[in-house]
Amino acid sequence: MTSDPDSLSTRSFSRLAALIEDYSGIAMPANKKTLMEGRLRRRARALGLPSLDDYCRALFEGGRLEGEVVHLIDAVTTNKTDFFREQGHFRFLTETALPGLMTAAPRAGLDRPFKVWSAACSIGAEPYSVAMVVNEFSSGIRGFRFSVLGTDISSEVLAIALEAIYPWDMITPFGDAMRRRYALRSRDPNRPCFRIAPVIRSKVQFARLNLMDDHYPLEDDWDVIFCRNILIYFERPVQFRVVERLVSHLRPGGYLFLGHSEGVAGFSLPLRPVAHSIFQKL
Ligand SMILES: C[S@@+](CC[C@H](N)C(=O)[O-])C[C@H]1O[C@@H](n2cnc3c(N)ncnc32)[C@H](O)[C@@H]1O
Repeated sequence: MTSDPDSLSTRSFSRLAALIEDYSGIAMPANKKTLMEGRLRRRARALGLPSLDDYCRALFEGGRLEGEVVHLIDAVTTNKTDFFREQGHFRFLTETALPGLMTAAPRAGLDRPFKVWSAACSIGAEPYSVAMVVNEFSSGIRGFRFSVLGTDISSEVLAIALEAIYPWDMITPFGDAMRRRYALRSRDPNRPCFRIAPVIRSKVQFARLNLMDDHYPLEDDWDVIFCRNILIYFERPVQFRVVERLVSHLRPGGYLFLGHSEGVAGFSLPLRPVAHSIFQKL
């Protein structure tokens, strides 16, 4: 045990790290100890526990594990995201992926809805960005239908995504046209924020899904799956299992978008690279 209430003993750290990795896939090597301590102080205080080791004991010996695990994962995950993050992906989506899928039978968007899944969507900037660019793309195409699903392990970020209200400084990547059409500015000068317009909100649904689950309770005919900036937190065998499951939910010819620093090199999967961190299912 450690006498510093703001530090975790080696044993407490290992127990929490094992739990986090097992539950969420997020690797917690020893060099993340300080980060974990910083993030868990708020949780320990919220529960009225005097030290981080007491927090750990409350989880493993005090019966609080089940109720607290969601908060624990929320506290240690990185939810950083932006609208239109990694711009090239959105260009590829509307300039290459969508036109291609619209000409394959049955035609995406026309004979059936065009379906995009944003796995690990954080506060919703990614699925809403997808919905905005697809809505722009399809505005002149009669009868075009599409839907976007955003999923995440964290119920806290999903609550924000559902509300679709964002601080004003997140508007920067919107161009003028997108801003005018899809961002409703708050009239409250004390709360500089904007809300995503109903025409876009109506296209996007949210659900909680842990990528570590053996089975994803979703259809297997997605046209496009975004799973960006989460694999980097997983060890390679976990990355493989997640990507393998995601690919099984893509229709042949569909696309998998990973984060710019993520890839599938060395994974034997029915995927061919088509652009930077974008893969098409064979
Ligand atoms: C850095 S954000 C990435 C958000 C978005 N994809 C982007 O690129 O902007 C990573 C998200 O992954 C979520 N996450 C972490 N572990 C997860 C898991 N096992 N299953 C699903 N989501 C997870 C976190 O809650 C967080 O919201």
